Amino acid sequence: MSTRLPGGIPDFIEKWNPALFHQVSGCVKVLNLESAVKGWLIQARISNKLGHEQVGYGLGAASMASLGILANDMLHPALPATIIGFTAIYWKVGTDDLKQTNHTLRNNFPFLCHMRYLFESIRPEIQQYLIESDADATPFSRSMRSTIYQRSKAQSDTRALGTMRDVYEEGYEWGAHSMFPADHHDVKTRVKVGNKLNGCLQPYSASIFNISAMSYGALSGPAVTALNKGAERGGFYHNTGEGGISKFHLNGGDIVWNVGTGYFACGKTVDGKRFFDEEMFKENSAKHAVKMIEIKLSQGAKPAHGGILPANKITQEISDARGLGPGPWTEDCASPPYHSAFSTPKQLCEFILKLRTLSGGKPIGFKLCIGQPKELASLFHAMIDTDIYPDFITIDGSEGGTGAAPPEFQDSMGMPMAEGLRLADNMLKGAGIRNRLKLIAAGKVYNGFSLVRTMANGADLCNAARAFMFSLGCIQALKCNANTCPTGITTQNKNLSSGLNVSNKSVRVSNFHAATVLSASEIVAAMGHTNPRHVTGEDLWKRENGIHVSTYSDMHSKYLPVMDGGELLEEGNAEGAEEDEGVVGGGEGYLRFNELGERF
Ligand SMILES: Cc1cc2nc3c(=O)[nH]c(=O)nc-3n(C[C@H](O)[C@H](O)[C@H](O)COP(=O)(O)O)c2cc1C
Ligand code: SF4
Repeated sequence: MSTRLPGGIPDFIEKWNPALFHQVSGCVKVLNLESAVKGWLIQARISNKLGHEQVGYGLGAASMASLGILANDMLHPALPATIIGFTAIYWKVGTDDLKQTNHTLRNNFPFLCHMRYLFESIRPEIQQYLIESDADATPFSRSMRSTIYQRSKAQSDTRALGTMRDVYEEGYEWGAHSMFPADHHDVKTRVKVGNKLNGCLQPYSASIFNISAMSYGALSGPAVTALNKGAERGGFYHNTGEGGISKFHLNGGDIVWNVGTGYFACGKTVDGKRFFDEEMFKENSAKHAVKMIEIKLSQGAKPAHGGILPANKITQEISDARGLGPGPWTEDCASPPYHSAFSTPKQLCEFILKLRTLSGGKPIGFKLCIGQPKELASLFHAMIDTDIYPDFITIDGSEGGTGAAPPEFQDSMGMPMAEGLRLADNMLKGAGIRNRLKLIAAGKVYNGFSLVRTMANGADLCNAARAFMFSLGCIQALKCNANTCPTGITTQNKNLSSGLNVSNKSVRVSNFHAATVLSASEIVAAMGHTNPRHVTGEDLWKRENGIHVSTYSDMHSKYLPVMDGGELLEEGNAEGAEEDEGVVGGGEGYLRFNELGERF
């Protein structure tokens, strides 16, 4: 039974590859030689004289010549002619596919991939009349992907004849433009991350749109290289993901080093457990390309869930990236759900300070998908208590992607990005520490509007993972966890990943980035602002249901009162909170420990 999910390419095409293409060519050629017995000499002569690519033409010509000879035989002349004609087309199309560098699918599935293109070319008709709307297909609809593909290829992305969306349906949202728009050229598209009040000595000027964490291992070497070169071209950052710093990350682009629970490139294994290694961290954080360091607490697709890389899957390149030392590798490489370097809010603050010192003052932050709000409150309290602040916090939404995750975690754990972001922004304001750090957000940001909407919800800048995968040519085949990605993006199978042309794709990555930032700037300017951070929930509206519409500010304040600054610090507001497991009453308040120091 096929396990294929919608959006991919048929299983039998997946089994296709350049080597098979050549084998089939051989078979078809033999078939030709047998069936066109009388034309054998002519064909063989042409095959010998001409190169591989001309053989197809030769066979075609031979078929014509053999027709006359075959006229005296029992065999119908059309048969060899058809076979040889097909061979000629097969060769011509297949070898052209192998020679071109624009499409990974053509490299990896010569000739057969045209079935996809054929169906693709008539897809709009089939889809429009028989199957689905443009808004269908998940996690990214056809319409979302088309926008990304067009922008990556720098094609025209304007549309005719008005919106296809039903503006009266529940959930429809829109931006409120101004009668007095600003000039989009004046819109700020860079944000300084790193606060000298926190002790940051090397602040970083980030773009408002960047590549989110995806590790080498989850992605192929060529995919990581193309992203990194694209980031360099477009002047934005590329997050390494938690698989360490590979050679593919060091191609000129700025990187944010994602430090997960496996401490790859900054840790060692003792008795099967991973521990942070100060010296290794110091050495790697000093790399010029490393602009910021992000401690990964959790990610939306599988919050508080670890992962294991089996020992037999560790290659030299993976070991180099993760700093696992020379092989043979006999132990599995574990990324547990929790950090061994800290287990309380106060210890996390101290770890942040340690990384800042060891890295020579680079911006330090952490990434999480929000789970329990009281833990967040406690962490902010610990920051105030210790006077140690991160330079940024990245909020990932439960709608986020990953290479592989248990379905229950993917579908039902963690807070969606909009609510998580709003909560963090509001609590930071309430605690009077919003100015200490920047908020970064990730969760299906893929065009100008989603970027602006996320900033209106509280982000200073955004990351995107899957949108950048689409810019690399991802066709949403949903096989990222099977090592059979047909576009060579999420596979370590070199036969597939070698089809991904790095120079073409890196241009697409930067094209997509530039077009998205331009679109966001135009929206911000249309709203009458020149700083995306000045866009607020007042500038965005949503149809809650029927005729009931609200601004984002009104909607949000229904479940979380909007705070302007410092409210959570006021004594009066804290009354009763301490008994409630210390939500406001101290950095370590909500965590309880027994006399052995164990949490319960
Ligand atoms: C293939 C893949 C690999 C990922 N690997 C990591 C990782 O190593 N570390 C991490 O913090 N997040 C990882 N993520 C999560 C993304 O960085 C991002 O937070 C999430 O996908 C939401 O962004 P998106 O909606 O733009 O994809 C990964 C996501 C994908 C799709
Ligand atoms: S990365 Fe590859 S396997 Fe994953 S969704 Fe895209 S095309 Fe499919």
